Order: sequence, then structure tokens, then C-alpha cells
Amino acid sequence: MARVEGKVALITGGASGIGLSSAQLLAKEGAKVVIGDFNLEGAKEAVKAIEKDGGVASAIFLDASVEESIKEAVEFTVNTYGKIDILFNNVGLTNLKKDLDVVNMDLDEWDRLMNVNMKSVLLGSRFAIPYMQKAGGGSIINTASMAGFASDAIRTAYGASKAAVVHLTSYIATQYGKDRIRCNAVAPGLILTPAAEQNLPKEVQDIFLKYNALPYNGEPEDIGYTVLFLASDESKYITGQTIKVEGGHYIGNPSIGDFNDFMKKAQA
Ligand SMILES: NC(=O)c1ccc[n+]([C@@H]2O[C@H](COP(=O)([O-])OP(=O)(O)OC[C@H]3O[C@@H](n4cnc5c(N)ncnc54)[C@H](O)[C@@H]3O)[C@@H](O)[C@H]2O)c1
Repeated sequence: MARVEGKVALITGGASGIGLSSAQLLAKEGAKVVIGDFNLEGAKEAVKAIEKDGGVASAIFLDASVEESIKEAVEFTVNTYGKIDILFNNVGLTNLKKDLDVVNMDLDEWDRLMNVNMKSVLLGSRFAIPYMQKAGGGSIINTASMAGFASDAIRTAYGASKAAVVHLTSYIATQYGKDRIRCNAVAPGLILTPAAEQNLPKEVQDIFLKYNALPYNGEPEDIGYTVLFLASDESKYITGQTIKVEGGHYIGNPSIGDFNDFMKKAQA
């Protein structure tokens, strides 16, 4: 049997990158998939590609910054396919020009990013949970980020909002576990989505690569397969967790490079 056979999933931000890969993998493994995205044309393209591969999918316009729009996407999912077993709260944004350090960051941008990155997770969950309770369970998966664990020179709002997503994940898991609703997050490191490839020059991608334990950068399906696992019953005893998918970028002692140089000199 396919890994999520018979389940119904809503994926926010499913027209591109991590959301798209997750939608494709969930559909391939038997789920009926609703792709909610700001980019409706992109969502429709994704549906066509899934259908071409024999999957079942629908698209809906979704603005994750608007409460009513999130509610509509959840209701559309239930009205179209009869239930919602899997909610992937994946939309998240940053802004390298306005989301700066604490002193210089634009406060309107702070509010916007908190709203889109954090509150949309709360709202998606809030609207889906009553349906999941009625159906006897479900799996909520949130996209956090390694920026929620490791601080940076800029992107203060992004990092703080993603740290909040990590903790919100465990709150949801704690509050609804007895209803058999699991909630987990995935925290990507650098993932070469089309947007990341476009925004990050090769030199920056190479800096990430240099500090990865593995000799390559991440691809959307590295997150997609993690989402598939968390969505499936294979992970039925896992809840409240955030799985870091980051190529071992953050596991080593940050001074390891200097330490290696020191050892080489000492041995010479
Ligand atoms: N790519 C990475 O390196 C990386 C690393 C860590 C975390 N993340 C997180 O992964 C998630 C997906 O990122 P991605 O790299 O796949 O991005 P992406 O730009 O490839 O895809 C994001 C999708 O979300 C849609 N979207 C944007 N704003 C929206 C809104 N307000 N309402 C509805 N849809 C909206 C876009 O149209 C797009 O289809 C985000 O939460 C991001 O913070 C990405």
C-alpha cells in the first residue's frame, strides 16, 4: 500500500520549492492533495503535473496573511475531499532589505513576517483541528527553519518567527495529542529551491557547502521526504518534534576550521 493512501492533505505555499515537492510526493504516495498558494497559476500548474502522473489534486488561491483565506482553504479541502488528515503549514517569508538587525529593522516588516510566518501556522491549525478531532486524528506539519535555532546578522524577524513555529509545534502537539492529532515541524537548512537559487549567488551557496558535514546542499525533496514521513502513519509515535534537515551544517564546533589549522601547524 502507498505510504499515505486514502489521506487528504492541504499544503500552503505548495506551488513552488519545498511545498511543491511535498505535494508531489504526498500525491505519488496516495494522498489527495490541495495546493493553496498566493500564486494560483503556479498552483494550477502543479495540479496538472500531479494529475499527469496519475495523482489527485486541486488548487485554491490562498493568502496566508489573511485569516479568512486560510479558513476558506481548509473548508475547501474538506468540501472537496470529505476530510483533512494532513495539514502542511509551509508558507514563510523573509525580506533581506527590510528584515535587518534589531536596531535597524523595519517594524512594519516585523509585523508582516510574524503574521505570515507564525500566525498562519496558528490559524491553519486552529481551523483544521476541529475537523481532525471529528475524524479521529490527523498530522500537522509546520515549516520552521534552522534560522529558528542559529542567529544571524540580519533576518531577526524571520529567525524569531521560526523559533516561535518550533515552540507552537510542541504546544499543538501537547494540546491535541489525546485526539490523536500529531504536530511536528521540519527545520530546513539551505535548500536549493528555485527562489533560493535565484536569490543566493553561487559564492553564498558555496559558503553553506563549505560548512556542511555532507558534501552537497539540500534539495526540495530532502524536505519533501521528511514531510511525507511525518504525514504518514510510519511516524505515529512522533509528536511535538522538530526534525532538522540541514546536511549537518550546524552540528560541528564552529571553531573546527581554526582548530584544524592549529593542529596542522602543530604537527608540521
Ligand atoms: N529554501 C530554503 O533554503 C529554506 C530554508 C529554511 C526554511 N525555509 C522555509 O520553507 C518554506 C518554503 O520555502 P521555499 O524555499 O520552498 O520558498 P518558495 O519561494 O520556493 O515557495 C514559497 C511558496 O509560497 C507562496 N507564498 C508566498 N507568500 C504567500 C502567502 N502570503 N500566501 C500563500 N502563499 C504564499 C509562494 O507563491 C510560493 O509558491 C518557507 O516557510 C521558508 O521559510 C526555506
